[in-house]
Amino acid sequence: MKKFSVTPWSVSGNVDYDKLIKEFGIEAINEKLLERIKKQTRDLHFMLRRKVFFAHRDLPRILDEYEKGNKFFLYTGRAPSGKVHLGHLLPWIFTKWLQDKFGAELWFQFPDEEKFLFKKNLSFKEIENFLNDNMLDVIALGFNPKKTFFIVDTIHANLMYKEACKVAKKITFSMVKSSFGFNETTNIGAIFYTSMQAVPAFLPSILKKRNIPCLIPHAVDQDPHFRLTRDILPKLGYYKPASIQCSFLPPLSGTQGKMSSSKLEQETVFTIDSPEEVEMKIKKYAFSGGRATIKEHREKGGIPEKDISFQYLRMFFEPDDEKLKAIYENYKSGKLLTNELKEILIEKINSFLKEHQRKRELAKKQIGKFLFKSF
Ligand code: TRP
Repeated sequence: MKKFSVTPWSVSGNVDYDKLIKEFGIEAINEKLLERIKKQTRDLHFMLRRKVFFAHRDLPRILDEYEKGNKFFLYTGRAPSGKVHLGHLLPWIFTKWLQDKFGAELWFQFPDEEKFLFKKNLSFKEIENFLNDNMLDVIALGFNPKKTFFIVDTIHANLMYKEACKVAKKITFSMVKSSFGFNETTNIGAIFYTSMQAVPAFLPSILKKRNIPCLIPHAVDQDPHFRLTRDILPKLGYYKPASIQCSFLPPLSGTQGKMSSSKLEQETVFTIDSPEEVEMKIKKYAFSGGRATIKEHREKGGIPEKDISFQYLRMFFEPDDEKLKAIYENYKSGKLLTNELKEILIEKINSFLKEHQRKRELAKKQIGKFLFKSF
């Protein structure tokens, strides 16, 4: 029996990432591959060292090409359907690192029709507001405006539609049925959608009139889209896109599924939350791996593996391995109490968000610079 499920539209249960690697047919990122990346980047991002980015498709081929002087571009995206939360930022922060280290262009897709097609009650008007708001979060992370191009499906429809049709013509209903679990009652817009998500993986090759390799950093739930994309692009004469895939930042309440705004608002830390809201959410909702009483905690120690505050530090907020190790050991030995651990995390999140929110304000004037016009 399957205890967890991962699709592009929902993640539930306790995700077993080793099983997922087998199920999806993706490859684990091993030490040898890390060494190869390190040869180019000199240091390794902590999300690689700690296997937050844990799987890939075809990454060695991207590195082969890069070593030959054939540079790749990056492609990732966000369907604007709500406020941005910490879980969304995780792969984008890593994408920014890749952009810096490899001097790569980033094509960032905002498929504003995706959640319109997939959600029951979301209007294009609401989506447009989220789109403008979500762009601020992406810009605030510091992507290079000269090398970053926003593609909005409905704004750039003219550029994308023909290409999407070329992809769509190679996908049958039975292929999307098995990839996404669709059935006869699925609306036909949703059936077509994956062909729109395929387009940015070869759009730069079309615009620049030469074949350019593509690397897609994304959370593992998006893999079914790119499995199809990889089958089809060679048939159209383009490279198969490669990918590098991360696990999910767990929700505050525990390790089940992923942080998601479709769950309880209080259990999700949004990028626009105030310091007081962050403090309240962490204190009240962050699942603790600590013991029932201080006495018991001092005796037996906490369980960092189960502790959400510790996991957030590991995956996102404490890049320094030495400091993380000290926190781990102090928590495990019982020296550090849950509320003290939570204070460390609250301080980290709030100082990150203070800076992020400042840059978000500045980003309001920059959207025009990021929206792709033409070369
Ligand atoms: N489908 C993604 C979402 O639901 C958005 C997206 C579009 C995306 N293109 C992508 C995500 C490429 C990762 C990589 O938010």
